[in-house]
Amino acid sequence: MGVVERQLEELKEECSADDEEVIRKVGRGETIETLEEMSPGYLHTLVEFMLTQHDTEIMSACAYHPAATQKAPNLNAKISGSAVVQDEIGHANLGYRVLSDLGFDKEELMYEREPREWRNMRAFDYEFENFAEFACGVGFYDRAGTIQIGDIEQNCSFGPWRRYERKVVAEEGFHKRLGDMWFKRLGNGTEAQQETLQAAVDKMFPKAIAFLGHPEKEGKAIKRIREYNLRKGSNYEHRQEWLRQVVETFEPLEVEVPAHYDEDEEEYVVDLEMDWAGVYAEWKEAPGPVDHVETVRGIA
Ligand SMILES: [Fe+2]
Ligand SMILES: [Fe+2]
Repeated sequence: MGVVERQLEELKEECSADDEEVIRKVGRGETIETLEEMSPGYLHTLVEFMLTQHDTEIMSACAYHPAATQKAPNLNAKISGSAVVQDEIGHANLGYRVLSDLGFDKEELMYEREPREWRNMRAFDYEFENFAEFACGVGFYDRAGTIQIGDIEQNCSFGPWRRYERKVVAEEGFHKRLGDMWFKRLGNGTEAQQETLQAAVDKMFPKAIAFLGHPEKEGKAIKRIREYNLRKGSNYEHRQEWLRQVVETFEPLEVEVPAHYDEDEEEYVVDLEMDWAGVYAEWKEAPGPVDHVETVRGIA
């Protein structure tokens, strides 16, 4: 049994609400504030969902750091890149603090999990290679963050999480705008800059689409998340909003994204054949953020 599972099992014993009762309560728009008000199922879904976000926050800091700072093209870029990395650590800390208020052992979560036990989005398992990849990171992944976390800030039934996301959403907005600024600079820059950005887009756009989840076949976890009102929007809705913003941002640039607006269907369409079976297999077999775990533990 992993660190998370062991702690979860212990805390489930303190959850005294009935599952149907919790679903009715959150359905009326009420929030859940304490462990006692949860059912074991609610706690389980909440913790897995919170870890997905907050493990992603801290691993994104590790993944962004070298590209955002050591490979920044100038001092201003380095300063704003460092600010992003610091923000991400702050976002992670908010989540782990709330988990520790529920009774989780934060030290164990931080320092005793094996790489495969981290729930971060797999796109952040490795370092980003250059500054254009960092620009795509904030312009694509943090943009997805503004949409997904914005949904939590508006709709999440777990009160403590919903409240602190206001600060996080504001900062993710800054990260997204930083991405947009670099998209414009590189995308309308020299031929070499355009080529570097195009290569980063080609590599990272499909990962962003995977990050946003399957638009039609939502997994069991997302169904439970929506049933407990931890978020409201579907994968399809989040993906449409993301595509709208990205297609509009890239329209005036010399760099192409594989997506367009379909006038007849009145929706944004991805011009890629997504190999979802391949994506799931890759996620399942991934070793996790091996190097980043060493950074977090202070070994690297
Ligand atoms: Fe963040
Ligand atoms: Fe961010």
